[in-house]
Amino acid sequence: DIEAKKSVDQMSRSGEEPPPEYIVKDSKFGSIETSPPLGPFPVVDLTVFSHSSSSSSQDLEQELAKLRSSLSSAGGCFQAIGHGISNSLLDKIREVSIEFFSLPVEEKQKYARAVNEAEGYGSDMIVSDKQVHDWSHRLSLRVFPQHKRRFNLWPQIPQDFRETLDEYAMKIKIVTEVLFKAIAKSLNLEENSFLNQFGEQSLMQTRFNFYPPCSRPDLVHGVKPHTDRSGITILLQDKEVKGLQIVVDGISSHYWHIHIMSNGIYKSPMHRVVTNTEKLRISVASFIEPYPFNEIGPVERLIDEQRPRLYRNVKNYGIINYECYQKGLVALETVQV
Ligand code: SIN
Ligand code: FE2
Repeated sequence: DIEAKKSVDQMSRSGEEPPPEYIVKDSKFGSIETSPPLGPFPVVDLTVFSHSSSSSSQDLEQELAKLRSSLSSAGGCFQAIGHGISNSLLDKIREVSIEFFSLPVEEKQKYARAVNEAEGYGSDMIVSDKQVHDWSHRLSLRVFPQHKRRFNLWPQIPQDFRETLDEYAMKIKIVTEVLFKAIAKSLNLEENSFLNQFGEQSLMQTRFNFYPPCSRPDLVHGVKPHTDRSGITILLQDKEVKGLQIVVDGISSHYWHIHIMSNGIYKSPMHRVVTNTEKLRISVASFIEPYPFNEIGPVERLIDEQRPRLYRNVKNYGIINYECYQKGLVALETVQV
């Protein structure tokens, strides 16, 4: 796709109008605002969940209550503080992303995503002729399990890209474990209830998103409205440029693993990204999902007479595992009881 036509990057540089395949015809989620409101998000302080924490049980209860309300009601997400990742590392990962995406197209193409592959550099995956294209470029890389890393797709320029991603991924993995335990506790469950279902070898994919300026941000999506299907998504925002919009009327996804595991209590929000005329925006999303073929399902303790089982147990055929995806094994679609 990106060889055949002008890339978003090239169109952005020349300032031309987006071609028809990028134009959003009817947005169910309202007009595409150029200066989007972001939040305010509920803010959850993760320090209370760390092993070394000396917080009072009152502080702990307070953060658990915020987790519960943000994940079970409209929005389905929160801003994490106290996660223990230094600002300098967050700045560094943003910096190497911008440096990579600013390279000439030929250099980035060395890491191009092959057709039907999940990893590499490219645009949004085109699965139908009618699909409206996103105004973005992406670089997706599997970071865990470590032995599954495909280093031929990890940029060599900028020079510190690989070590920065390695360090960032390690930190994110720690945060995800803290979060899975906290999410379980927020539902009064044993802390490993969710973590167990993900297994030692859970998968993590990090996706760098790049949204160059667009001459007509009122006509295109940076990312079209969607709900994530992963276990947890940890999303690092651009330092200054906004663009993420979240639908706050409680739309959820039956494909989201935590939605299934929590027997429908926790929601996966519908969200989209809009662009602007002035500034490029980047974000870094890390998706965690259970090891392929692990069976997942509602935690028994969340099933009772008031809340009957909503989903069958199902094998995780993977959203990140494209071998399964290609074979059409996306079984999470048929699990509702
Ligand atoms: C996404 O949801 O795919 C990207 C979100 C963002 O860029 O903030
Ligand atoms: Fe998303």
